[in-house]
Order: sequence, then structure tokens, then C-alpha cells
Amino acid sequence: MAKAKILVTRKWPEAVERRLSRDYDATLNSDDTPMTTEEIGAALDAYDAVCPTVSDRLPGAIFTGGHRAKILGNFGVGFNHIDIAAAQGAGLTVTNTPHVLTDCTADCAITLMLMLARRAGEGERELRAGRWTGWRPTHMMGTRLRGKTLGIVGMGRIGIATARRAQAAFGMRVVYYNLVDVPAEALDGLDATRLDTIEAVLEAADVVSLHVPGGGDNTHLMNAERLALIGPAGMLVNTARGDVVDQSALISALEGGRLGGAGLDVYEGEPAVPDALIARDDVVLLPHLGSATTETREDMGNMVADNLDAFFAGKPVPNPVG
Ligand code: DGY
Repeated sequence: MAKAKILVTRKWPEAVERRLSRDYDATLNSDDTPMTTEEIGAALDAYDAVCPTVSDRLPGAIFTGGHRAKILGNFGVGFNHIDIAAAQGAGLTVTNTPHVLTDCTADCAITLMLMLARRAGEGERELRAGRWTGWRPTHMMGTRLRGKTLGIVGMGRIGIATARRAQAAFGMRVVYYNLVDVPAEALDGLDATRLDTIEAVLEAADVVSLHVPGGGDNTHLMNAERLALIGPAGMLVNTARGDVVDQSALISALEGGRLGGAGLDVYEGEPAVPDALIARDDVVLLPHLGSATTETREDMGNMVADNLDAFFAGKPVPNPVG
């Protein structure tokens, strides 16, 4: 039987590319050039499976129906770059890669939190620029995390993993907001208090970490009013999706002294990052590195491959979306 024809839209870890090339008639993107939405739309009629990532855009308009492709194997847990209803309406199964990137993304949230609290980016820039004049008692004093309150917005897998790290390593008190009840066993061993509203979490927290999906009702969840509730000494960390924060409102809040600082791994309109953020010392900016370890990216790729294998063997896919 002929191998299924699959398209991988970006360069993936080599071990996974080898597996896909062995098992499929795979078109890889070895020079990693981003594909346009039109090219991905055309690919739906030329391949049996298309495997996109967060850097691709798959709006409803490309899902016109009657496509050759019957599955989108998304490389990533988030899928707000795909119009899921339109894809499913056009008969495509969509899969994602949950679980395997939980730890790395939580590590990234903690990295941002620490860098922000200890002014690590600012300090490194000072040293590299040859501006460091030596140790002095009042030089670049940051904030101690121990004993502070962490507010988690979105207590799913990554929110819980971030809370566990913050509590175990820094003794942080944890408060959280989640739309639905979190199963007690998921919180086992964690001392975390659920508050009734996002506002209550923002007011109670010294550091707020966002862990909700992007798109839909979560777009601009963190608007000007909510950002101001974190307060002039408070910090915001976002490893979720750029659109969850109103970026213009964030810049205004920082410029107006209504927010103490921000640690960002994701942006509205990625990969563009506004100069107004780049210019500030009270922000830490990472280039969407949440899941970027060799181990995790290989796990993600293998998870996509497992989903394709199941689909083409006529079995239920392990990680369906929707
Ligand atoms: C995801 O998985 O959604 C990340 O943002 C990309 O790794």
C-alpha cells in the first residue's frame, strides 16, 4: 500500500523527521522557511495530512471542503492558530500535543519570574555593555520571591506545574482562578486557594502567571483595568498566548507605573515585539521558548507521529482536539 503523503510545515527535530520519512511519504521543510496561509490552504488538497505549528495561520477561509487531507497533526498543545470548527466542518480530524510540554513551559514561567524579580536580564545587559562598576550595597536590588503570593490564572496542567515549582522552591503562597473546578487529585500536595474571580487573584498576588488558552473569550482577558489590579509593585508573567494580554494596555500600564514589571514569552502579532517593550528594563522578553528543549520538542514530534500512525491505521487518535 502506498504510504500516506504528509506535509510538515517547519523544520522538526531530526530524530522525528527520520521517523516520519521512514513511515510516510513526507515532505519536510529542511530550510525552515515559514509557509504562507495560501500555501497551507493549497497543501490541504495535495497531502493526506498537514502538520502545522503555532507559527502557521489556518483561518476558516482555507477550509473549503472536499480536501485530500483528513488530519491536521498540530505540533504544539495550543491550537488557536487553527479555526478548529471550520477544519472539523470540512471533515478534518485535528490533534495536538498535551502533557509532554507541561514541565518545560512551567520551567519557563519560573525562569521569567526569577529573571524579573532578580533583574537578571537588566543585570546581564549592564555587564555586557561594560557599565558594571562593581559590587555596592544598593546595586540593582530586586524582589525576594520567598513568602510572596503567586496568582495563577488558568489552573490546568501548566498552571499547576508552575504553582508546584513556586511553592516548593520559593515557599510562595498560591491563589488561583479557574473557570471550572480543578479535580482534587490534580492539586494533591499543593496548598493553593481558589478565588472566585480573576480580579480577586490579581489583587491578592505579587506575581501573576497566565496559563489559559489563547483566542475566543480569552483574547485581551488581561485588559487595562485588570492589569492595573496587579499594582505598581506587581509582576505579570505570560507563557500562554500573546493575545491573552492587551499589549497596548500592558505598555501603558508599565509606562504609567500601574504595573511593576512583565516577563513575556509570547506576544500579540509574534514575532514582532514593540519597541516600547524592548526599550524597558522592567520587562523580560523571551522568544516563545516555553517548550524549547530538545527532549520536549522530540516528544512533541513523536506525539504528532503517534497521532498520524493511529489515524492512518484506522484507530482512534490519542490526542484529538475538540
Ligand atoms: C504550544 O505548544 O502551544 C507552544 O506554544 C508551542 O510549543
